[in-house]
Amino acid sequence: MDTITDTTPQAPERLPVIRPERADGSDTGAIRALTAEAFAPPGKAVAPTSARGRGAVVREAGIIDALRESGALSYSLVAVHAGRIVGHAAASPVTLDPDDGGRWYAVGPVSVHPEFRRQGTGSALMRALLDLLVVYGASGVVLFGDPSLYSRFGFEPRDGLTLAGPGPGASQQFQALRLDGEPGVPTATVTYHPAFGDDRPER
Ligand SMILES: CC(C)(COP(=O)(O)OP(=O)(O)OC[C@H]1O[C@@H](n2cnc3c(N)ncnc32)[C@H](O)[C@@H]1OP(=O)(O)O)[C@@H](O)C(=O)NCCC(=O)NCCS
Repeated sequence: MDTITDTTPQAPERLPVIRPERADGSDTGAIRALTAEAFAPPGKAVAPTSARGRGAVVREAGIIDALRESGALSYSLVAVHAGRIVGHAAASPVTLDPDDGGRWYAVGPVSVHPEFRRQGTGSALMRALLDLLVVYGASGVVLFGDPSLYSRFGFEPRDGLTLAGPGPGASQQFQALRLDGEPGVPTATVTYHPAFGDDRPER
């Protein structure tokens, strides 16, 4: 039998592999720990988070668990470096009111371990996530975050597409990216999955 020789050139030493979260649950703990560490307030120890982590000190880790439990963690990608999960990106469905008949998702939380930041891992996760969303027919995506981080992927605040809930829904930090090639965005109010809780989805 022929053997297959892998002639792929060596990747740069610190380039991670991006893959989906494993369906057998074996990545869950590492994703929770990574997210808690990535979002921990600077200088504060990371509080342990349970699988039912709502109310945990690091809210974002609990959001991912709650999405998964609800079957709403539609896309969950990890970045693996030398066998260790060093990055994670999630996407979950959002609802539009009025419904435009499409499939819209929220991106986030997105986390990269502090030791691995500013090396392109967050961007690689985002590009892989957007590619998957296009392949599986998403109409578009929204997120809440710093426009200087996300404009490079095409996200921008869009007149008419606003975030439900308290506060200025048309904030410059609420951005959208259409993925299906249709022009413009619907005029609608966007509601995140209940796993995000009552707070503004600031991730
Ligand atoms: C945001 C985050 C995911 C970026 O991950 P990353 O692997 O460092 O991202 P990249 O290396 O792909 O950097 C992409 C760009 O983001 C910007 N950036 C990344 N981290 C930044 C930081 N801490 N402050 C300001 N800009 C930052 C850089 O400008 C970089 O652009 P450059 O290539 O011109 O330098 C990571 O910093 C993180 O986990 N932060 C804590 C959690 C968080 O806030 N997540 C985002 C909201 S969901």
